[in-house]
Amino acid sequence: MGLFNIFSVSGNVTDDVAKRMNLDRNVDLTFANTLKLPCRAEYFAAPSTLAALRATLSHAHHKDWPVTLLGGGSNVLLPDQLPGLVVRPALQQWWLTRQQGSVYAHVGAGVNWHDLVMATAERGLWGIENLALIPGCCGAAPVQNIGAYGVELGDTLQAVKVMEFATGATYWLSAKECAFGYRDSAFKGPLANKVVITQLVLRLSRKPTPRLNYGDLAARLPQAPTPLEVAEAVCAIRREKLPDPQVLANAGSFFKNPLVSDQSVAQLLKIYPTMPHFPQGKGQTKLAAGWLIDQCGLKGMRDGAFGVHQHQALVLVHFGGGDRDGLMKTASAIADKVEARFGVRLEPEPRVIKA
Ligand code: FAD
Ligand code: EPU
Repeated sequence: MGLFNIFSVSGNVTDDVAKRMNLDRNVDLTFANTLKLPCRAEYFAAPSTLAALRATLSHAHHKDWPVTLLGGGSNVLLPDQLPGLVVRPALQQWWLTRQQGSVYAHVGAGVNWHDLVMATAERGLWGIENLALIPGCCGAAPVQNIGAYGVELGDTLQAVKVMEFATGATYWLSAKECAFGYRDSAFKGPLANKVVITQLVLRLSRKPTPRLNYGDLAARLPQAPTPLEVAEAVCAIRREKLPDPQVLANAGSFFKNPLVSDQSVAQLLKIYPTMPHFPQGKGQTKLAAGWLIDQCGLKGMRDGAFGVHQHQALVLVHFGGGDRDGLMKTASAIADKVEARFGVRLEPEPRVIKA
């Protein structure tokens, strides 16, 4: 019997185990999610080593507690009460290795994503500079394959190390096995609620590979920018458009940009010739959900505790005093209006965490 089973002994060990594992009880998560939705977790743990994570998961398995993973809470819609155990992996180490002209970043799940972007850009490394200022932890980044300014995590990610909830076993997944898509991955599908992401390996490069085609990014930069200059330009654009969750609670884009058939888009363009649209191949075109909401005259609107951000219609904001049910009502009303006008149904981007 290895370490994983160490707590699978009979008898009442809960208090002792809780102390040893730093399990906190009845924890307020209102300030652990950027939407500031009120939420209480029955148990909470933030293990900072693989052994502690394995022991924590084993204990939850033994107790038959549901397990919810939480990083920075910037892409979750939390319920009022979360039974069982909330785990925030706090693996904080990261390091660089070199191999055949490439530099590999090996990153623990608890590392802050933006800090990693700035630290690698400061070292002159290319690869993730366009993804600056995305909140949250590295462990959550593969879940929706974070993307911004023409770049997605999947472009540089080589492998992900995961730990199984049920057995505590760790294994590696290749980028292909992660099945990345637009705001999508295997961690939202077959692997959801089955594994914890504990480590990422990203392939970076010293060779300049600027990707400046999105919006006015190129216009803000010198001829041959450094990765740090690109990251700083991205930060500047984002600060102009997106509300700082510390000031106004939000989860970034509330809806995904919808993928629509090329035929439907051709029909819409006859009525709305200036509609932004981005052909994706395979007969599908991506529309800008923010534009669709904006066209419905909803930018800046307020509905009780929630509203649509005045500078970015894709961002819903929480003024305080609301809960998840209230937010979902406001979001449904917005999606209904967009559907009535454009015939396109918007789907929420943040993960709805089941109670
Ligand atoms: P959380 O919100 O805590 O969790 C998200 C999901 O990941 C949950 O389902 C959770 O259970 C799961 N999870 C967390 N940790 C792990 C783990 N170790 N293993 C397995 N599953 C795990 N996203 C973009 O893609 N592009 C953007 O440009 C962008 N801009 C944003 C701007 C703002 C202002 C905000 C508030 C959010 C933005 N987001 C953006 C969304 C968000 O920042 C990302 O999705 C981010 O990766 C979430 O990280 P997190 O640590 O906060 O995850
Ligand atoms: N637009 C409007 N009105 C608005 C908002 C947008 O007309 O209120 C138009 C813009 O003028 C532009 C188009 O919609 O023509 C797209 O807008 P923008 O470039 O701001 O990007 P987005 O599609 O709204 C997406 C991501 C963001 C990411 C940015 C930059 C999704 C769901 N959102 O937003 O990601 O930062 O592109 O790449 O894909 C997030 O996921 O949380 C997030 C913030």
